[in-house]
Amino acid sequence: MRTVEWIDGRVRMIDQRKLPLALVVVEFDDYRDVALAIQNMTIRGAPAIGAAAAFGLALAAQHSRATSREGLLADLEVAAQTIRATRPTAVNLSWAVKRMMRTAQAETGEIVPALIAEAQRIADEDVEINRRMGAHGAALIQDGFNILTHCNTGSLATVDYGTALAVVRVAHEQGKRLHVWVDETRPRLQGARLTAWELMQAGIPMTLIADNVAGHLLRTGRVDIVLVGSDRTAANGDVANKIGTYKLAVLARENGVPFYPVVPTSTIDLSLPSGDDIPIEERDAREVTHVDGCQIAPDGVRVLNLAFDVTPHRYVTGIVTENGIAYPPFSVSLRRMVRG
Ligand code: MRU
Repeated sequence: MRTVEWIDGRVRMIDQRKLPLALVVVEFDDYRDVALAIQNMTIRGAPAIGAAAAFGLALAAQHSRATSREGLLADLEVAAQTIRATRPTAVNLSWAVKRMMRTAQAETGEIVPALIAEAQRIADEDVEINRRMGAHGAALIQDGFNILTHCNTGSLATVDYGTALAVVRVAHEQGKRLHVWVDETRPRLQGARLTAWELMQAGIPMTLIADNVAGHLLRTGRVDIVLVGSDRTAANGDVANKIGTYKLAVLARENGVPFYPVVPTSTIDLSLPSGDDIPIEERDAREVTHVDGCQIAPDGVRVLNLAFDVTPHRYVTGIVTENGIAYPPFSVSLRRMVRG
């Protein structure tokens, strides 16, 4: 099944907090529950939360009690604000909300079916875009490569197929022998819980490592390429991604290893000149002090739990998109990619 989908007027998604121990599917018919699911990371990953946001707005339209077009648009505006406020870093969320609101405003006939169809289009396009990114990126992978990745950029982070893991998938399908080093990705362990699970299901050789191991592997020549995703990429090529990505990029450059984010153009925010303007989400201290409900730090300890960091574009070798691979100067090449 897809990570998130519209089934019989409800939004169905995989509860990613339960993986890999249980594959649990949840269904919602209230947009507020979809917003909560994005906030508490039942669903996560930039493209996946964009699609969830779109389906959430379709739910809001479907259940609105408004009796006029103006009333329905006002209800949708309230839902849009609630959904947008859930997570600040991934731009796909506000991108999808904007696209849905534009559809509602432009629709001269029935708004509800138009919004359901638009949300479905966003989901379908995501899968198609991921396959294209996979095909472009696979050209970077040579037979025998060791790939280092961070967080989860697979099917679960998208509607299906993935971003950086789509590249791995396509290269594997092409018969290239490859092996993936999977960072566990503290504090929420998306690498250990989700990426390891996905790669094992796909039969792709992998090894799980503690985050602190990556530097040693890069220095000792055991990594040929670093592939990551992005939650928002600024116009100059600065890349916001899961906390810890910046460290990998710097160490990759230090050791002459190419570093490629794999990024749908919906993740590129040309309105931001640089990554300094990307809002960085700060999450609950409990994600650091507890693992699976088990306390691992002293009572009352002060915690800073930043969910993302920004990698300056000088450490980025190239950016894989569905329209090809962008190379420096990114201020020129990314615009070309977005225009398609
Ligand atoms: O906090 P998360 O799990 O939503 O963070 C996800 C990532 O950082 C991914 O790398 C990113 O969304 C891009 S890949 C789809």
